[in-house]
Amino acid sequence: MATIISIINYKGGTGKTTTALNFGAALAKKRKKVLLLDFDSQCNLTLSKGIRNPEKHIGNVLVRKASVEESMLKLDNFHLVPSTHNLLDYEFNISNEPGREFIAKEVLAEVKDKFDYIVIDCPPSLGLLSINSLVAADYFIVPMQAENFAFIGLDSILNATEKVKMRMNPNLELAGILMAKFTPRTKFSKAVISNILADERLKNKLFDSYIRQDISLMESPAFGQTVFEYAPRSRGARDYRNFANEFLKKYGKKEKKN
Ligand SMILES: Nc1ncnc2c1ncn2[C@@H]1O[C@H](COP(=O)(O)OP(=O)(O)O)[C@@H](O)[C@H]1O
Ligand SMILES: [Mg+2]
Repeated sequence: MATIISIINYKGGTGKTTTALNFGAALAKKRKKVLLLDFDSQCNLTLSKGIRNPEKHIGNVLVRKASVEESMLKLDNFHLVPSTHNLLDYEFNISNEPGREFIAKEVLAEVKDKFDYIVIDCPPSLGLLSINSLVAADYFIVPMQAENFAFIGLDSILNATEKVKMRMNPNLELAGILMAKFTPRTKFSKAVISNILADERLKNKLFDSYIRQDISLMESPAFGQTVFEYAPRSRGARDYRNFANEFLKKYGKKEKKN
């Protein structure tokens, strides 16, 4: 049974897509069966693998025109359901449907036994698609940048996820905050870290691993590659490998019932 992980933050540019792609790829390198889903109409995850204007996409899945299985592309060692630039039209289409928050959960149930990990890349908002991903998920990971106002987004995420957990998905659990695009040892980074450590809601929820700033992580999507393909010896590859190891150690064997 797959563990479903939502990669979410209210803010843009915090490393969600880079994390979905390279965390997913790191799990796949460990011989896990991985499915990635692009829930963002900006299609960055889809474009990162060099896929443009795909015929099969998540929009058709959400409106039940196609199944997940029909819509996924087999890439090297993982599968991907791409997004489409007009995903918001599909979102609008389901926005009045009863039980609209449960559609992703419902469609993913059909493929849960085929994968070990299903990773969802969320848009930078808390709209219906993000809520769908949280209702379907076992865990969510919040990639965060050590920068001004980082906490504003975090509060919104924690409030929203608490409500989703209470009302729609008691299984939902914060796996942790991942410092992405991180420059350790600066004053600013230390201040952000100490804020996280002081927050009662985030007790033991900061991953020990962090992702350093690395040009390979920025360049690899332009070549349609994960960091492991593009620069296997880079800091980025090492950091995502370490992060995947930490994730598996903490949550890999835990059985969650649905
Ligand atoms: N660790 C990193 N080092 C350098 N650049 C990064 C790193 N992580 C992400 N980036 C770059 O920062 C930008 C935003 O990252 P992205 O993953 O797209 O964020 P989000 O999906 O949260 O909007 C992208 O250009 C990406 O290539
Ligand atoms: Mg993104």
